[in-house]
Amino acid sequence: MRRLLGTLLVPAALLATATVALADTDRPRTGPEVVAHRGASADAPENTLAAADEALAQRADAVEVDVQRTADGHLVLVHDATLARTTDVERVFPTRALAPVGTFTLAELRRLDAGSWFSPAFAGERVPTLAEFADRLRGRADLLVELKDPARYPGVEKEVAYEVDGLRSGVVVQSFDHDAMRRFAEAAPEIPAGWLFGGRPTTAQLDDAAAHGVTQINPSFRVVDAALVAEVRARGMQTGVYTVNDTDDMRQVAATGVDRIITDRPRVLRKVLAG
Ligand code: G3P
Ligand code: CA
Repeated sequence: MRRLLGTLLVPAALLATATVALADTDRPRTGPEVVAHRGASADAPENTLAAADEALAQRADAVEVDVQRTADGHLVLVHDATLARTTDVERVFPTRALAPVGTFTLAELRRLDAGSWFSPAFAGERVPTLAEFADRLRGRADLLVELKDPARYPGVEKEVAYEVDGLRSGVVVQSFDHDAMRRFAEAAPEIPAGWLFGGRPTTAQLDDAAAHGVTQINPSFRVVDAALVAEVRARGMQTGVYTVNDTDDMRQVAATGVDRIITDRPRVLRKVLAG
């Protein structure tokens, strides 16, 4: 497997610097960071290089993606368990339209059109690898990698850690699967990690996350208020919220003091934050 950037032998001092930079909750606050959800997915097909380009054009600080693994071991970006919604798999592989993503090889995925479902303007977009997507963002925006259903992909934590390790800074790995994130922390304690939550995290969960060196607590915006943001910050972590697309919600969520907001509409969020 190819490593994204750099080598395995990253000097410990450099890794420590990168981690401190991302985990620093005392930095001067200039409002929440803008994170493009699956790329700028309101304006381009999600989890594609076109969505990365659009996120950059809309001045996102970071881009969130969903990583899964092909049958032949490549890390690729797809959100759903199947390819039916976001590709023309039904046309290309009529008998496998509802087969799990992980049953396809990379060569097979390359035959799919991941753009036309969104708009004919994006015909021919491909399912990208994590490496390709990171290369596209390199030096221009940070990367927020979600391990999507990691229980389906034994060992994926280590593989993702290996791939993103060379980025040194500007990358965070997150998942709803906290057992997977504990394995990730063991494999790569130096890489910033986030725990996703569907509901409001309990005090015990926040303590658990802090004990596992978690950098970001990332719940749905619907459960976040200023008290939760303070609880997270008191434990030395940051708060990011998903997925905020309505302008009133953006204003409300920003007022709670969250560190980052994940949205399909980075340009709109940027404008709201600018007042
Ligand atoms: O980054 C958080 C958010 O992406 C989680 O939800 O379903 O869009 O992956 P989902
Ligand atoms: Ca996601």
